[in-house]
Parts: sequence; C-alpha cells; structure tokens
Amino acid sequence: MAVTGVIFVGYVFVHMIGNLKVFSGPEAFNGYAQWLREVGYPLIPHRGVLWALRVLLVVSVLAHVWASLVLWARGRRARGPHRRRRMPTLLATGARTMLPGGVLILVFVGVHLLDLTIGRLVTPESFRSGDAYQNLVASFSRPWMAIFYAAIMLVIAAHIVHGSRTLLQDLGATGQRLRMVWVVVGVLVALAILLGNALIPVLVQMGVVT
Ligand code: HEM
Repeated sequence: MAVTGVIFVGYVFVHMIGNLKVFSGPEAFNGYAQWLREVGYPLIPHRGVLWALRVLLVVSVLAHVWASLVLWARGRRARGPHRRRRMPTLLATGARTMLPGGVLILVFVGVHLLDLTIGRLVTPESFRSGDAYQNLVASFSRPWMAIFYAAIMLVIAAHIVHGSRTLLQDLGATGQRLRMVWVVVGVLVALAILLGNALIPVLVQMGVVT
C-alpha cells in the first residue's frame, strides 16, 4: 500500500504542477501536453515515456487495490468480534472513509480519462484531439463537472492525509518525531494538490480561465 501510494501521490503532485500551466494560456498548456508525448525523443520512441508511465500507474492501481483488500480482510480477521473503542473521531472517520474514498477516486479516474484523454462520454461534440486547453475549458464550463472535480480533490486530499499517517506504520517506522514531520509533509502535499487542482475548475466557472 505504502509504495504504490507514494507512486500515486508523486504522479498526482507532478500532474498538478503541470496542470498549473493552464494559467500561462493555451500555447503553454498544449505545448506541455505535447512535450509529454515527445519527451526523450529520439533516444526513446514517441510516447515511450508516456506509455511507461501509464503502465506503472495501472500496475500501481491494481497493486494498491489488491493490498487494500488484503489489509481489510486481515484487519477483520485479527479483530474478530471486537471493536476498537476510544479512537479519536477524526482518526476514526479518516480510517472509515479510506475504502469508499478509494472507490470514488477510481470512478473519478475513469470519468477523467473518458472526459479529457479519450474525449468520449462527456464532451464528444466539443473534444478536439491535440487541444488539451480547449478540452479542459469545455469540460469545466459545465457546472456539475466543475463541482465534481473540485469535490473529488477534497476526497483525494483526505485520502492522502490519512494515507500518509498510516504509511509510516506500514513501513514500521515508530519514531515520534519522524511521525510528526511526516504528517505535516502529508498535509502540505494534500493541500497543494487540493488548492492547485481545484482552483482550475473554479476559475473556469468564474470566467477567469477561458
Ligand atoms: C483539476 C484537476 C485536474 C486537471 C485539470 C487534469 C487535467 C488533465 C488533462 C488535460 C489530461 C489530458 C492530457 C492530454 O491528454 O494531453 C489529463 C490526463 C490524466 N490525468 Fe488529469 N487532471 C486533473 C486531476 C487528476 C487527478 C487528481 C488524477 C489522478 C487521481 C489525474 C490523472 C490523470 C491521468 C491518469 C491522465 C492520463 C494520462 C495519460 O495516460 O495520457 N488527473 N489530466
């Protein structure tokens, strides 16, 4: 869980930084999207790095979901008929929402790929292959889609905050100081992903990004 989780958070964080290019205008954003397909060429074939990344992400998702089910089953077996009591409310809520939150994130990734990468399902008439900027603006111009994206960023941020706390447990690190520092790092990364990404649909709705 820990290793594949870190791979994911790393991807989403770097993706968020790339998404911020939208504030530099269509040319910068589309240039960046094009660069992702060309990076490493001619040493690496066209889209070589992109496909390597896709394979890594798919393998990580499958491993992450599989590990979550193994952990869940192991926890149930270990707990037997007993329930953990006196757990701080925030921690208990965080732990309980990990599984449904993870399912929501998976649904989001599916919708997101159909929406902005494949151009089916939600914007078939306005999707222009190679014009990532215009596709993004067309997608976020629909209020329900903008709300969906912003809301999912909240779910992702909560998932990261709780996941970063349990990550050290998974890796067996017990130092109190290290835990404190790590929790702060997790919160900061989650906040950056939340604000950096959610800002985009909000500003499209406000007519600032057009
Ligand atoms: C508001 C937030 C986001 C925006 C504006 C955004 C934007 C985009 C755009 C424009 C593309 C298509 C790039 C292209 O085809 O040229 C894309 C692809 C993708 N995004 Fe996002 N994204 C956001 C959040 C996320 C999040 C949170 C995740 C993961 C949980 C994610 C995962 C992906 C994946 C896996 C791809 C496909 C990459 C590929 O295989 O080509 N995105 N995103």
